[in-house]
Amino acid sequence: MDTIWADMRDGIDEGLMDRAGSIIRRGGLVAFPTETVYGLGADALDPEASGKIYQAKGRPSDNPLIVHIHRLDSLEKIARFIPKQAYLLAEAFWPGPLTMILGKSDIVPTSVTGGLDTVAIRMPDHEIALALIRSGGGYIAAPSANTSGRPSPTTAQHVKDDLDGKIDMIIDGGSVGIGVESTIIDLTEDVPMVLRPGFISVDMLRSVIGDVRMDPGLHGDDPSFRPKAPGMKYRHYAPKADLTIVEGSAEHVRAAIDRLACEAVSKGLSCGIIAADEDASSYHTGIVRCAGSRAKEITISQHLFGILREFDDLGVDVIYSESFDTPQIGAAIMNRLIKAAGHHILSV
Ligand code: TXA
Ligand code: MG
Repeated sequence: MDTIWADMRDGIDEGLMDRAGSIIRRGGLVAFPTETVYGLGADALDPEASGKIYQAKGRPSDNPLIVHIHRLDSLEKIARFIPKQAYLLAEAFWPGPLTMILGKSDIVPTSVTGGLDTVAIRMPDHEIALALIRSGGGYIAAPSANTSGRPSPTTAQHVKDDLDGKIDMIIDGGSVGIGVESTIIDLTEDVPMVLRPGFISVDMLRSVIGDVRMDPGLHGDDPSFRPKAPGMKYRHYAPKADLTIVEGSAEHVRAAIDRLACEAVSKGLSCGIIAADEDASSYHTGIVRCAGSRAKEITISQHLFGILREFDDLGVDVIYSESFDTPQIGAAIMNRLIKAAGHHILSV
């Protein structure tokens, strides 16, 4: 199939948006920007359409999709037993990078929820995404628009690299603002539980609804705790190279990465380094990529996945990354990075 490229970097093109909406309503697939990462959208209420998402991405069918809505009253159509915390969180953070897990209503097909009786719901904070949801009928199921196992796409070009010829349309809305996927909070538990860290931190959630805990399965060190979000158990974001995260005092980390990179290069290996802007000049060899500034943590989340993709394209053999435990987004950045590294962390 020929994938239509819809350039909306300078604003919404109404003609192309009508076409995108009709593709969705007819059961097709449209990739679109959100504030977090690009999504691959289909009509969430059409089981056949959402089935195509799994096929295009090569995604395991037990991994449920997030349903994207554009207005609050859509929530009551697809969710049941909605607790008051959901409304408080929606008021505080929607539209925005927060996904809520709630009981599902009968109109949501189980193919979208991976057979679960709960549904993930989010209202994205991006005018193209909101216009597409409106034009596509109000309920768009969308995972990140990458091939399963690759880093989530933060530009339309990343989507094209993975899915060209497999989907009906890609809407280019430029680079995304946040760069890591939404925070997921499960409101079906007695104490609301974060299943995936994101831009909205646990502290921000607690400031609105009080007690919130983290899914103990997220740390991954103890195999007796499995993550509750089915997607969190897969080794996502795995670069082709061996990735090691180096942690410790800034000075020790810089010295260790510089030494390890020199050793790798002297063995004839190609070596990538992921550094903060503040540290980049400390490295004497290797391909150094600046994620962003520790003083402006969103610049780090914005660039992380793009750097991992670039190192794949360059075919580097090993990657050493600094650790980025920044105050708000650090938990999300480190969750993705640690998974990409297959839990390979060196403390210095
Ligand atoms: O920022 C985002 O959330 C992006 C954009 C496109 O909105 N979407 C995204 O979707 O990251 P995806 O499919 O890559 O990740 C969805 C995660 C998966 O880990 C999935 O297992 C989990 O949400 N999930 C979905 N429905 C669930 C449910 N009912 N219970 C538990 N986890 C669920
Ligand atoms: Mg994903």
